[in-house]
Amino acid sequence: MKDLFEKFKNDKGPLGNYADVAEGYFVFPKFEGPISNRMKFNGKEMVTWSINNYLGLANHPEVRKADAESAAKWGMAYPMGARAMSGQTEKHEQLEQELAEFVNKEAAYLLNFGYQGNVSIIDSLVTKNDVIVYDSDSHASIIDGCRLHQGMRYTFRHNDTKSLEKMLERATKVADKNDGGILVITEGVFGMRGEQGKLKEIVALKDKYDFRLLVDDAHGFGTLGKTGAGAGEEQGVQDDIDIYFATFAKSMAGIGAFVAGDKDLIQYLKYNMRSQVFAKSLPMPMVEGALKRLELLRKSPELKNKLWSVATALQKGLRDAGFDLGSTNTVITPVYLEGSVPEAMVMVKDLREKYNVFTSIVIYPVIPKGMILLRLIPTAVHTQEDIDITVKAFSAIRDKLESGVYKKIGEEFIKKMRS
Ligand SMILES: Cc1ncc(COP(=O)(O)O)c(C=O)c1O
Repeated sequence: MKDLFEKFKNDKGPLGNYADVAEGYFVFPKFEGPISNRMKFNGKEMVTWSINNYLGLANHPEVRKADAESAAKWGMAYPMGARAMSGQTEKHEQLEQELAEFVNKEAAYLLNFGYQGNVSIIDSLVTKNDVIVYDSDSHASIIDGCRLHQGMRYTFRHNDTKSLEKMLERATKVADKNDGGILVITEGVFGMRGEQGKLKEIVALKDKYDFRLLVDDAHGFGTLGKTGAGAGEEQGVQDDIDIYFATFAKSMAGIGAFVAGDKDLIQYLKYNMRSQVFAKSLPMPMVEGALKRLELLRKSPELKNKLWSVATALQKGLRDAGFDLGSTNTVITPVYLEGSVPEAMVMVKDLREKYNVFTSIVIYPVIPKGMILLRLIPTAVHTQEDIDITVKAFSAIRDKLESGVYKKIGEEFIKKMRS
């Protein structure tokens, strides 16, 4: 028999294997100062494109005031206990009602974290007789929710409705045989590549197949649709989303999440989602803070407009400079380059140290081997100057990448870091 820990002596996982050269810089970086378009990293001010503070609410004066006042009034503990036991308040209910109204659903229920919420929504909606069909690029929280499922599950090729239809044919046979139902899961916006889920096409399949649709709209909520109600509103199919999910971790610049849908669905989830039944209620400052953020989403449409004008200018600037942004149709701005992991590391270091631009870097296994994805998240607080600096810097690092400069120093860099 082996020691349980034996496995990670030699293999620390695809990212963990680079921890010795990457930690503190490429992963687990520490920013200093208030969350904004410019932040300090390693003592230097950088144009920062790696924070999902879409509407700039993290440091909005009204938000900061509401958060501080609520924390002073209630502390961080109140209310104690799970919602069903002793953690229920009028404010939790008020927030749920306002969220439901905002996304045009009958009812909503709060979740403490989006990740746990997704796992729990999926877990509570299916029995072993039911079948899940989900997009292959789904967020980890969806995948992990599906992993708990004891019945059949199928993935369809990312955003490919033909593939979805094929899987629905299979799922229908299984569900018919088991006397179960079908749950289809996709995202309103895929956070890495910035593509909207093809909700309109998926909803159209309801004419032919019987299924319920769960949409994770983490990145669409607050950024898409006329009122900011998300990808469903943007594509005109909000009413056809049976289970609508969004987190507070992006546009709301907070912690928490919610699920919305028909009254009967929410009543069922309220009593059956294990992540909520068996966990402490969301603390009051999170709830009152979320009420303030939601009020700003409603009364300040200029924040969303500003976000989009920044995103449009950034994407235009990068495209005009010849960069491949894939098929983003949201504010998320991925820049695809070709290169190895060592090249990617040296290039990103150069981008930060020489050009003072901070972006997240995404490599295999999130994207195919040999590709580098630099992911930019615009916000309502970025400026045209930030964009100009960034486009210029990206052009410079691409030239170096293509001329092989980073290749040469990449291998040496890794060797040196490890010696
Ligand atoms: C698509 C998607 N779903 C769910 C989550 C999880 O949300 P939370 O951070 O609230 O746990 C995230 C990331 O935050 C996400 O990007």
